[in-house]
Amino acid sequence: MRAIRSAVPVDRAPRVAAPPVEPYRIKVVEAITLPSAEEREHALRRAGFNVFNLLSEEVFVDLLTDSGTSAMSDRQWAGLMVGDESYAGSRNFVHFEETVRELTGFPHILPAHQGRAAEHLLFGQLAHPGDIVPNNMHFDTTRAHVLHVGARPLDLAVPEAYDCEDRSPFKGNVDTRKLSALLSGPLAAKVPLVVVTLTNNTGGGQPVALANLKEVARICREHRKPLYLDICRWAENAYFIRTGEPGQGARSIREIGREIFDLADGAVMSAKKDGLVNMGGFVATRDPGLASRLKEDLILFEGFPTYGGLARRDLEAIAIGLREATDERYLEHRVGQVRFLAALLDAHGVPMMQPPGGHGVYLDVGRFLPHLSPEQHPGQALVVELYREGAVRAVEIGSIMFEDPSGKERSPLDLVRLAIPRRVYTESHLRYVAETVARVWARRDSVRGLAMVEAPERLRHFTARFAPLVG
Ligand code: F0G
Repeated sequence: MRAIRSAVPVDRAPRVAAPPVEPYRIKVVEAITLPSAEEREHALRRAGFNVFNLLSEEVFVDLLTDSGTSAMSDRQWAGLMVGDESYAGSRNFVHFEETVRELTGFPHILPAHQGRAAEHLLFGQLAHPGDIVPNNMHFDTTRAHVLHVGARPLDLAVPEAYDCEDRSPFKGNVDTRKLSALLSGPLAAKVPLVVVTLTNNTGGGQPVALANLKEVARICREHRKPLYLDICRWAENAYFIRTGEPGQGARSIREIGREIFDLADGAVMSAKKDGLVNMGGFVATRDPGLASRLKEDLILFEGFPTYGGLARRDLEAIAIGLREATDERYLEHRVGQVRFLAALLDAHGVPMMQPPGGHGVYLDVGRFLPHLSPEQHPGQALVVELYREGAVRAVEIGSIMFEDPSGKERSPLDLVRLAIPRRVYTESHLRYVAETVARVWARRDSVRGLAMVEAPERLRHFTARFAPLVG
């Protein structure tokens, strides 16, 4: 096969400091190949210009998601071998439960097959038709589960979260003034719980400050509302607190995490992110009454409470992965990779959400393709172009993911996320991605829009089909 070479001449390549050296070495490799331009064109047509419909073999660098795409460590793979596949009382569940309790301090832990299963259980118990569920920003499945029970998701992020050029360090913060007003106002009785998502995936993977979480917790206590955290990227969030919040620099990730969890009544977690596994999640709570109701639902929807829809060996891998994700050297490299990719793109002048967040670089579609109107689906057009240019798979996080099917609520942010899987790609992969994006940036004026030709009502970004607009 021909070697894949950079199309950006070396003397014009931006000078950017290298990311931290990988704190691991590679034991197993998986071959990837770059399909030809004709193969990519053919794949796009077959996929209805929706990259969720591509086969992974048609993709060269896959930045669709950081979820469930981590490389497991040798210890995690070894953990699979000590899987105790007993239906009830498996030793892997005991290890999993001990680990989650030790890290979070939550007494009641219910495993689930992934984050959205945990959301299904939690919102199924706590939210009801007509309720309002505030969050800094709901991610797609969280929003869908709130809507599924007939409640209304309400995003209460700080104003700077919506400004890609604002470089404030904690743009995942909740607007506490708005939260206070909601909980003191006429709609307060309709709010069954308050949710905060760490980090804010919808808004660029931006972290939430510890000080902000403390204020949110104080407001929730004052108004007697339970506070639940979406902690799928909590270790990355804690790393930003440690490195960016005054007075936190000497504390460990676990200490910071524990202080965060102590502020909350419970949490949902997709372990597919900071659990460093390919599948799994949990709900945790301090409320024993809620825990027993959740347990009944768990048995109905997921499985017996000592496996929750997972193979027991998966619980072992989660227990090990949750600890590995708190290693500061790992986190420094992880967040360093995101910053490195952002710096390469910045050197080319590519517009993006600043500062870069914890798990990916989010391109600012409005400034990337200003000549396309919202009806031409510029975010999706950019995703298609990145694949067409270099078989890089990204995802639209904007009006297609979040627009109300009636077209009334357009997403205030239009982003394309380049999510970096954990422990998977190296510096040269990231350089390849940056060069691919830079080439699309260089010919951005020629990028055409797309028409959405097929769309389901819910979570349409996964299955919608598109067609190129001509002329
Ligand atoms: N909460 C957040 C903040 C998420 O980012 C996700 C998933 C979930 C909940 C649901 O977890 O996938 O295990 O059911 N986010 C993925 C992504 C899919 O690509 O960002 P899940």
